[in-house]
Amino acid sequence: MTSKTLLTIACAFLLVSATSIAAEDDAFDAEQTYQATCFACHGTGAAHSPEVGDQIEWEIRMEKGMDTLVKNTITGLNGIMPPRGLCATCSDEQLTAIVEFMLESSL
Ligand code: HEC
Repeated sequence: MTSKTLLTIACAFLLVSATSIAAEDDAFDAEQTYQATCFACHGTGAAHSPEVGDQIEWEIRMEKGMDTLVKNTITGLNGIMPPRGLCATCSDEQLTAIVEFMLESSL
């Protein structure tokens, strides 16, 4: 086997793995997951949760910085915001995308 062939195989492999990562991202829809899991509280203000669309509420929270908001989403907050917002299958990256979606919809 020449080194050129090896290189071609390596490139083909990289291409395939890049495609499957992209497909995974496509399958995740931040808005849809928000509607399915977070909306029950954040769309209604249930349990005094900050409602998506309430600009002042989210401006104040945004002052803590995005990192803190995401961290509190992952660990939960004050015993009323449940850890991971009850989305057990969401990765940290996916939760970050949902928080971004919530902020974009509010600010
Ligand atoms: C059972 C109700 C409930 C669900 C479900 C829920 N939240 Fe929350 N969330 C809350 C409440 C209540 C607070 C306010 C907590 C406080 O400030 O003491 C909150 C606060 C937050 C905050 C602000 C954190 C901060 O540091 O101020 C973010 C961001 C957030 N939630 C994201 C999410 C995301 C993303 C989901 C879905 C994956 C979700 N929440 C699902 C109730 C919920």
